[in-house]
Amino acid sequence: MGTAFMRAYHAAHVQPPIFEDPLAQRLLTVEEYRTSEERHLRALQVFYPDLAAAYPQRAGALACWMAIAGAPAIVLAHARYTEDLLEQAVGQGARQYVILGAGMDSFAWRRPDLLAQLRVFEIDHPATQAHKRQRLREAGLEPPGNLHFLPVDFGRDHLAAALRRSPFDPRVPTFFSWLGVTYYLPREALFSTWRAISEAAPPGSGVVFDYLDTDAFVPARVSRRVQIMMEIVSRVGEPMITGLAPGALEGDLAGEGLRLRENLGPEVIQERFFRGRTDGYHACEHAHFAWAVVA
Ligand SMILES: C[S@@+](CC[C@H](N)C(=O)[O-])C[C@H]1O[C@@H](n2cnc3c(N)ncnc32)[C@H](O)[C@@H]1O
Repeated sequence: MGTAFMRAYHAAHVQPPIFEDPLAQRLLTVEEYRTSEERHLRALQVFYPDLAAAYPQRAGALACWMAIAGAPAIVLAHARYTEDLLEQAVGQGARQYVILGAGMDSFAWRRPDLLAQLRVFEIDHPATQAHKRQRLREAGLEPPGNLHFLPVDFGRDHLAAALRRSPFDPRVPTFFSWLGVTYYLPREALFSTWRAISEAAPPGSGVVFDYLDTDAFVPARVSRRVQIMMEIVSRVGEPMITGLAPGALEGDLAGEGLRLRENLGPEVIQERFFRGRTDGYHACEHAHFAWAVVA
């Protein structure tokens, strides 16, 4: 719900958009949207009291927080990066799209152009997925026939087995996305998920994921806004626990059957997705986007 709010707010208030999701708002109730606004406004007051005082009006304070907070910068840019690469992959023959930790991703309703060429799998924690399906019913968003929901707990269940039990075709070139999830999982779950991807899909299939670097978990090194982001998610009971060393990622992935194609750090992300902005949005320190293919 948190990331859906960020996309919904962005669609309604920010020009030019980093990522466009006009459906995000429909996946939140009016009350949930309002509660998220309150939570963000409170965060500005708690963590940046000077800025809160400088923006006494609600709209200005919210705009200020959304631009300077870490999470929106990650959520918007990683979605844009992923769908740009997905479009490229579909152009090169990918015919399945597996969204790992889909949350309130609206891809299947928002991109009929790509959906028409794909079989789509939304994989998520059973509790999140049940909640989303309820919201979809309430919003009158009927799941398309080529969308399949698979409940999987990455910490406990076997992803490859879940795919085998589904209409997923292991011979078909596939694109996987795994956004906003790695930092919440134990390190072993990252390796087992990479392994499951390389075992489940044919060579050349791609996977995009974002991660936090290990410095984000070192109190003396972490940037203030990432520290704040971590404190906020811990307070709601979903602590970020795992970071990766960017320099070791190539070897980590190779050991699980994946070849690293791109490993973008904050400076490159800034250049690609935030260049020229004057509204305060900028790439989040410690946040990296990686694209790998099945070897
Ligand atoms: C921050 S949300 C990101 C959602 C979406 N990918 C996005 O970018 O908006 C984190 C997602 O990870 C999922 N998740 C967290 N822990 C998980 C686990 N152990 N197994 C499966 N999914 C998990 C949550 O259910 C949620 O959908």
